[in-house]
Amino acid sequence: MELPEEILAHIFSFLPLEDKCSAFTVCRAWSLSLTHPGAWTHTQIRCESGASVPVILSRLLPIVRHLKLCVNMTDPANRKAGLWVLRHTFARGDSRLHTLCVKCLGNPPLFYAGHDLLQGLLDVLTNRSSLTVLDLRGVPFTLSNAFVTGVATLCPALCGLFINNSSLVCGVVAETVRKVLKLCPALTTLGLFQASLTQDVLKDLMLPHRPALKQIELRCERSLKYVTPLSDQIWAEVTDRHPTLRVDLELDHTLPELHVAVVLQPSIPVRHLRLRTWTWMLDEVRLVGRSYANTLETLEVQTTPSLELNSALIALSTQCKRLSEVHCFCVVSQEVITAFCKNCPSLQKYTLKTRKEPHPWTSTPQIGPTETSTQC
Ligand SMILES: *[C@@H]1O[C@H](CO)[C@@H](O)[C@H](O)[C@H]1NC(C)=O
Ligand SMILES: *[C@@H]1O[C@H](CO)[C@@H](O)[C@H](O)[C@H]1NC(C)=O
Ligand SMILES: *[C@@H]1O[C@H](CO)[C@@H](O)[C@H](O)[C@H]1NC(C)=O
Ligand SMILES: *[C@@H]1O[C@H](CO)[C@@H](O)[C@H](O)[C@H]1NC(C)=O
Repeated sequence: MELPEEILAHIFSFLPLEDKCSAFTVCRAWSLSLTHPGAWTHTQIRCESGASVPVILSRLLPIVRHLKLCVNMTDPANRKAGLWVLRHTFARGDSRLHTLCVKCLGNPPLFYAGHDLLQGLLDVLTNRSSLTVLDLRGVPFTLSNAFVTGVATLCPALCGLFINNSSLVCGVVAETVRKVLKLCPALTTLGLFQASLTQDVLKDLMLPHRPALKQIELRCERSLKYVTPLSDQIWAEVTDRHPTLRVDLELDHTLPELHVAVVLQPSIPVRHLRLRTWTWMLDEVRLVGRSYANTLETLEVQTTPSLELNSALIALSTQCKRLSEVHCFCVVSQEVITAFCKNCPSLQKYTLKTRKEPHPWTSTPQIGPTETSTQC
């Protein structure tokens, strides 16, 4: 029996990459179905352990629409394979790639700063405008102003851009972000270091011709010491202009304690909040409960245990009814656990421990790390 091409393509979409490569060589009908976009909803390619990528892929890569490329940096052979994949994905003028996510694994060699990979990306992007989402969160290297501007120039259709990496320093200045906004008029989802988000950037985002902002992810770290803090007033204006905007905030341990309260302005529509500061946080937890009650969906706190913290968390559980996850990395009382389970009907996952456990602490229910996929 002959299956219609779309159905075959849909079935193939569930196959791992190696099996797709094998299926491609079986017969004409199968290879045709594999050129159908339905066979390629999400593709993950891992360049690790020095193994080379099957050459047959060069014929399939130009069809891929959503690609996640993971490269183990330790072995130069993997970087070479990663660049090969990028080159072939963009090899044809009619590249259909919409989403590209690059993630680096393993320890890079000493003094290696990822120039080959970043330059390789810029090289293949030349005049290819189909890309709508570029996710570089998993790239641990310096993303320079020139690199980010280069990407924006080549990809005017971008609607999602993530350039907050795992480093300690912010390398992209606000002027660059403003240029990016001009070059990519459709951007509605942004991941940045908060240090690159100034009042001027927010004002640009509020201009009448800008589309509705969906999401801003901000990484708040020590470089915030050197910039003028964003006022509650400007956040209130942004929320007014973009009522559906949600903000994800991550405050890390390099952010000086004094700045925590400065970052947490009440008018920010915070959806996911990670307070990884390891500082004493009581007023902050109370403020989170009061200010973000209507928008907060996940909360992570790493702080010092105390009786007052327990009461602050219990109060928060009565305010933030939308919480689906809460993770507290210090011991809490049984009453805190009971309060979250009782008061938050959407709660799906939590890390709340009544006594110290060896690290890493596991959550309830115990499921693997969740990966958020990004599309617009
Ligand atoms: C990366 O590769 C090295 C050696 O090739 C290996 O020891 C290491 O475990 C790998 N790391 C990851 C995260 O895969
Ligand atoms: C890219 O486009 C510019 C002008 O639009 C053109 O001059 C250049 O040759 C193109 N480059 C490639 C590699 O197609
Ligand atoms: C980028 O920011 C988001 C939101 O704070 C966070 O979830 C993500 O982990 C950040 N990426 C890195 C690599 O820090
Ligand atoms: C990414 O990480 C490097 C250090 O590894 C840092 O210098 C650079 O500024 C970071 N990029 C951004 C966009 O902040």
